[in-house]
Amino acid sequence: MGTASHKNLTYVEDLGAMAIDYRSDLQEATRAIAPHGFDVVLDLVGGPALDNALTVMAKDGRVTSIADSRARDQFGGQFVWLRPSTADLRTVAELAASRELRTDIGGVYRFDQFRSAFDAFEARETRGKTIIEFGGTT
Ligand SMILES: NC(=O)c1ccc[n+]([C@@H]2O[C@H](COP(=O)([O-])OP(=O)(O)OC[C@H]3O[C@@H](n4cnc5c(N)ncnc54)[C@H](OP(=O)(O)O)[C@@H]3O)[C@@H](O)[C@H]2O)c1
Repeated sequence: MGTASHKNLTYVEDLGAMAIDYRSDLQEATRAIAPHGFDVVLDLVGGPALDNALTVMAKDGRVTSIADSRARDQFGGQFVWLRPSTADLRTVAELAASRELRTDIGGVYRFDQFRSAFDAFEARETRGKTIIEFGGTT
């Protein structure tokens, strides 16, 4: 089960998950699928979105967040903050090259277009990674 805004529900379904609009009543929407709640909640937003997600976690469920340390400090779960390293990024690049890891490219901009890139990103017009090219490289 995944959540998204209305415009991205089909996208989430195409990834293979059942999709629910995060503005809907999650408890109501998931009652038939998981009447006792979900065993694992993964929060990628934090704040009120974490609180909302916890309403559909099972009594003995586990929560992990990449955006809200309360998952660890208040709710006994995990809070994960990644530190990019050359070795990790090389592994990610290899997984992407072999297509084991796939990601959407929201837009590709030249360096002198960086303002447009940020404007589109902040207006939430993009989905996926925004790439800014420096000369012949990205
Ligand atoms: N721990 C780490 O290492 C790490 C790394 C990168 C980012 N982060 C943190 O992760 C958070 C998200 O970053 P991001 O770059 O992915 O942000 P983002 O591009 O703004 O994406 C947010 C995602 O959450 C969805 N969303 C928005 N409001 C929601 C809600 N109320 N309930 C459920 N889903 C909601 C959005 O869906 P729609 O587009 O459909 O609205 C979108 O898919 C930030 O707080 C950032 O600081 C942490």
